[in-house]
Amino acid sequence: SGVTVTVPATTANLGPGFDCIGAALTLYNEFKFTRLQAGGLIIHVTGTEAERVQTDESNLLYQAFVQLYQYIEQTPPSVKIEIQLGVPLARGLGSSATAIVGGLVGANQLAGAPLSLLQVMELAIAMEGHPDNVVPALLGGCRLAATSQTGWEICDIPWHQDIVPVVAIPDFELSTKEARRVLPTEVSRADAIFNVAHLGLLLRGLETGKGEWLRTALQDKLHQPYRKALIPGYDAVNAAAIAAGAYGMTISGAGPTLLALTNAANSNAVETEMAAAWKEAGITATVRSLSLD
Ligand code: HSE
Repeated sequence: SGVTVTVPATTANLGPGFDCIGAALTLYNEFKFTRLQAGGLIIHVTGTEAERVQTDESNLLYQAFVQLYQYIEQTPPSVKIEIQLGVPLARGLGSSATAIVGGLVGANQLAGAPLSLLQVMELAIAMEGHPDNVVPALLGGCRLAATSQTGWEICDIPWHQDIVPVVAIPDFELSTKEARRVLPTEVSRADAIFNVAHLGLLLRGLETGKGEWLRTALQDKLHQPYRKALIPGYDAVNAAAIAAGAYGMTISGAGPTLLALTNAANSNAVETEMAAAWKEAGITATVRSLSLD
């Protein structure tokens, strides 16, 4: 008896929505769970960078799996987990969120679905520490999460069908911990207002696909000014994406992947120019136009 769970990559922040908005993309990890009679834990990993994934009890997917059983006060069963990796690791595309969501959902299904989707979501947010990857990873689409008196208020953000997300994934890693360490703990009122205004503009831009709004909307003062120094070539890739017709470019999650938003007519040029600019800076990148999951 087994279950298979497919979880999408996610791009968090989208510029001004630091720690509150994220979108699921058409790039996936697949996790297959098979209950074993005995034998504890077996983990098999295939796909890009498979050798980098832990295959013992320290595996994040397995930790999430155990977490769910602890929450329902049951002993986790012996299990074989087959991981098919499609989401690159430590690149700002939510690979840890796929593991957390995959482990929780897989365990919940194996256990006969004792928890609701909302309960699984709350466990996932608690494990990850911020909601903007795990929520779209679990629910799909583009999602905004706000704390409420009782937990979380989640809403789906309309995404105009003409808007194409292009991800430029460099061949180096950046840990989220490191990319959060460089952020200030306090910000000025001017910077807070800047982000509130731009997030509002972003939501309307995403909904309408209106170029004028999208061209301004990806600006941010809470994280990118501090993080771009961790990403060599950032300014050049940004300039190249805009010159090729992108509305704007931003860091995907905590980086180092860069995300451009554009339309179908310009997406090929945006891909080519972002890759070329990074190559000139000495960095090899995989650049792809994706869709919203
Ligand atoms: N909002 C988080 C950050 C996403 O930017 O640190 C990390 O994946």
